[in-house]
Amino acid sequence: MDEASDLTIHLRDDPLGLSGVGLLDPEVRQPRPHPHAEPHLSGTIVGMGLATTLFSPAVVVAESFTEIEMALFADELAYLAGAGAERRAEFTTSRALARRALARLSVPAASLVPGADRRVQWPTGTVGTITHCRGYRGVAVARRELVASVGLDVEPHRPLPDGVDEFITTPGERDHLADLARRHPGIHWPTLLFCAKEAVHKAANPLTGALLEFTDVSVRFEPDRFAATTVDGQLWWGRHTVARDLAAAAVEVPSGETGEVGPP
Ligand SMILES: CC(C)(COP(=O)(O)OP(=O)(O)OC[C@H]1O[C@@H](n2cnc3c(N)ncnc32)[C@H](O)[C@@H]1OP(=O)(O)O)[C@@H](O)C(=O)NCCC(=O)NCCS
Repeated sequence: MDEASDLTIHLRDDPLGLSGVGLLDPEVRQPRPHPHAEPHLSGTIVGMGLATTLFSPAVVVAESFTEIEMALFADELAYLAGAGAERRAEFTTSRALARRALARLSVPAASLVPGADRRVQWPTGTVGTITHCRGYRGVAVARRELVASVGLDVEPHRPLPDGVDEFITTPGERDHLADLARRHPGIHWPTLLFCAKEAVHKAANPLTGALLEFTDVSVRFEPDRFAATTVDGQLWWGRHTVARDLAAAAVEVPSGETGEVGPP
């Protein structure tokens, strides 16, 4: 597949054509062009635009809804030895996206092999996050001097399997989700909560080293953003959206802050 055809820089006002999607409501961030898209466009937006709405202009997002074929580094190929076709495809596509996003930061292509803890070692001076689910691959990267950590998680926007809701929620969150479901029944709130907690974990783990359980994180959705408190009392701010049958959540920690971040 031709990589260029899947990595489009969007100049239009509605990069995903989402204005008529109908899933969106006031509690879920409306996909829209980044407020600073025009002046920063050539340097900060790569891809299809689902997760670009969730980060500041300091973060480069690259996304694809189809697989990208690309030659991998030798150690990436060695890492994939024994992996199935699906894992190879998501790994290769996400590395292609990462290389393209890092290039926007003028960072040369580098091997992105997960460590024993599954965490990727991003090139010196950069931070990044990867997510892949059926029909979607996304990567976000930034310069460490501006952004201390990023976390992105995207899942199909559908109910979680039986029993998972209870497993990932605290009693307080169940009341909160029930209230949200009454007011906004078109949204699968537990799925969005799952994304939010995974995004918090992806942003927090590289900073703290802590392996968080789902009930170690307590999430509260607000219009246009969410607040997450981890067991150590740290507050993390994130953004969420539902579009294209996908639920997405992201956390961005500016450099100089240890975990509290959010829209002004
Ligand atoms: C990493 C994790 C959060 C998501 O992995 P997943 O279910 O495969 O979902 P995604 O496809 O969205 O994300 C995978 C990517 O996360 C990244 N990742 C893995 N471990 C990570 C970590 N410790 N910190 C940050 N990012 C990590 C990797 O880049 C991986 O992609 P790759 O294997 O191609 O490099 C999850 O598997 C995990 O480690 N869970 C344990 C902790 C947890 O879930 N706690 C509950 C939430 S608080």
